[in-house]
Amino acid sequence: MQRLSLTRPDDWHLHLRDGAVLHDAVPHSARQFARAAIMPNLQPPVTTVADALGYRARILAALPAGLAFEPLMVLYLTDGTAVEEIRRAAEEPRVLGWKLYPAGATTHSAAGVRDLARLYPVLAAMERHGVPLLVHGEVADPGVDIFDREKVFVDRHLSPMVAHFPELRIVLEHVTTREGVQFVWDSGPRIAATLTAHHLLYNRNALLAGGVRPHFYCLPVLKREHHRQALLEAATSGNPKFFLGTDSAPHPRRQKESAVGCAGCYTAPAALELYAAAFEAAGALDRLEAFASFHGADFYGLPRNRERIVMERRPWSVPERLPFGDQEAIPLLAGQTLEWRCAGMA
Ligand code: NCD
Ligand code: ZN
Repeated sequence: MQRLSLTRPDDWHLHLRDGAVLHDAVPHSARQFARAAIMPNLQPPVTTVADALGYRARILAALPAGLAFEPLMVLYLTDGTAVEEIRRAAEEPRVLGWKLYPAGATTHSAAGVRDLARLYPVLAAMERHGVPLLVHGEVADPGVDIFDREKVFVDRHLSPMVAHFPELRIVLEHVTTREGVQFVWDSGPRIAATLTAHHLLYNRNALLAGGVRPHFYCLPVLKREHHRQALLEAATSGNPKFFLGTDSAPHPRRQKESAVGCAGCYTAPAALELYAAAFEAAGALDRLEAFASFHGADFYGLPRNRERIVMERRPWSVPERLPFGDQEAIPLLAGQTLEWRCAGMA
């Protein structure tokens, strides 16, 4: 196959950051994706509908002329989130849902939730209003090994939550383990998961073998090969509970290549191309469209996109570096060759 035409996809998990860097980050996503779920872990975080709409306007102001792109805003749950704000969010179509960051689990999660039990009245309001919950599914407990944090979160928190709120729609974001995939697979249709391209393509050797490679460091951290295999099976299975979410998370180069490097892989500049590589290696390119363009929209109850996008087998090199405000950011696989290339809208 040399050419692939698919319904324009959506990115159900994206970090665009804020301020001057928006002009550098937004075009990469808007060139490929019609819509994206915009993560709220700014500093300070996006905790109200008013904050989200302000942020959305700044994103749209950074959109190059001629590109259609719809930011779907995600709000950040804290210990202080008011039930009234949940209702307000439910009435705002430009808000997609709420994100649960366990405090300390990842980049800019310090304002996240400390006590999940105390969040239950807020989750009850979400269930009542039909607002989805997006979950960073890792415990932040320093006593738990970093490679086990997702599995422990699923057992300790997600499983009871799912049982307690039978109507709440929940997305286990960037699932990275066989156990996480199995949990989603075994749960009802209101439980889904996003999968990143980097977790489909790489195991933890990419991060640690032959030297520490900070651009492969993200959270949840890359896992063993047998977990990667489970993710790939889920993504290419055709099961509508699994869909695309890049978790593209740019940081200035200096903060990645540092004694204490930030978590986050910058995949937006080659997002669909990376997914195409993963699906092709699994012999499942024919399953890419449903994963990238149908399952997420269907889960969120939004219309599927109408435009189409064309990909061609035309090897190209990922740029070595990209402008990022007054600094630079290094995309994943900088300088390396990818087989597939987005050729634009059909
Ligand atoms: C994200 C970021 O940098 O904001 N980092 C990451 O490694 N994925 C936060 C997140 O999604 O966990
Ligand atoms: Zn993320």
